[in-house]
Amino acid sequence: MLIDLQQSRFMKACRREPTDRTPIWLMRQAGRYMKKYRGLRERWSFLELCKDSDLAAEITVYAAERLGADAAIIFSDILLILEPMGFGLEYTEGGGPVIETPVRAPGDVARIAKLPDMGALSFLTDAIGKTRKALSGDLPLIGFSGAPFTLASYVIEGRGSRNCERTLAFMHAQPEAWHTLMESISESLSIYLNAQVHAGVQAVQLFDSWVGCLTPEEYRTHVLPHTKRVIDGICPPSLTSSPSSGEGMGGGVPVIHFGTRTSALLELMRDAGGDVIGIDSTIGLDATWQRLGNAAIQGNLDPSVLLGKPEEIRKQAKRILDQAAGRPGHIFNLGHGVLPDTPEENAIALVEMVHEMSAVRL
Ligand code: CP3
Repeated sequence: MLIDLQQSRFMKACRREPTDRTPIWLMRQAGRYMKKYRGLRERWSFLELCKDSDLAAEITVYAAERLGADAAIIFSDILLILEPMGFGLEYTEGGGPVIETPVRAPGDVARIAKLPDMGALSFLTDAIGKTRKALSGDLPLIGFSGAPFTLASYVIEGRGSRNCERTLAFMHAQPEAWHTLMESISESLSIYLNAQVHAGVQAVQLFDSWVGCLTPEEYRTHVLPHTKRVIDGICPPSLTSSPSSGEGMGGGVPVIHFGTRTSALLELMRDAGGDVIGIDSTIGLDATWQRLGNAAIQGNLDPSVLLGKPEEIRKQAKRILDQAAGRPGHIFNLGHGVLPDTPEENAIALVEMVHEMSAVRL
């Protein structure tokens, strides 16, 4: 039976309404742990897969259906927006993504091109349209982007960096250039995210993967206003033609605001916005609820648990469901992306276990 997308488990949980079972999807649910994906990668590079809207749609739908997840996430990457902004981008085997000619001096900020429109990224909106058509009518599709800070850190470091030393140095030494850089990224993200909404996603997630290297004061001063502007500017489909009239907090398009190592930043992240706060496994779900009150929360099984035995996966999944204690507004997920060595059957088993164990408690 087809149900309205807005009445799906995932969308209800975003609105903190009760659900028949806890909804679950997995960050990086389409990726190298899947045999089918590895097969495609023998013929195409990662960037080729992202830029072919038929293949990107096929991977998106396949992963969600294979897992039995309660939402699909569009197959893409947070760094693709940087190409039309003037940065060369390369995905190296094993070494992760690399940005050519990173920003190292205030003068470099001037050469950044704000995204004028989605012309150079039409493969993404095409893939969203094709995915929406191919997906079951009750399965929401999630669009996404990096958050301004995480994208700025890639632009400055040239690659992923856990401690973000160069980024922090630039932020403190060149506050004006930092602000200009964050504005260029944020304005580009507004176009990028609203185009995804317009193309047919039901929710969006902002990934602030590296934000955990900031102190609360650094976040408040140098990051929060930019992230807030991006989130406030996400408009429901009927308003996308006039983004300036944005209703904030997604007004019908829930925003998931995710970061890792955010234990010191939770309240500030909530203040920056988002209907759902995504946490990693370094914080407790119950402690997060105590601190955030009524927010919906997504998370937070340690991805390495999926490398273990089914009994251990069940035990850890139960521990998280027990912490959620049937509160409305829990979306089950990992604390970070699925690890490439994860046995596919363990990810599928987790989805089944969460559905089964959460149904019992209602
Ligand atoms: O979740 C999904 O299934 C949707 C697709 C998705 C990818 N990347 C595909 C991908 C999403 C949501 C992302 C987000 C992303 N990309 C983040 C934020 C989340 C996080 O993990 O912190 C970041 C920091 C990136 C940047 C990036 N892209 C890195 C660091 C890497 C290499 C390391 C790694 O984990 O693979 C990528 C490559 C990438 N992005 C792959 C996939 C499927 C692997 C590409 C391949 O070799 O086939």
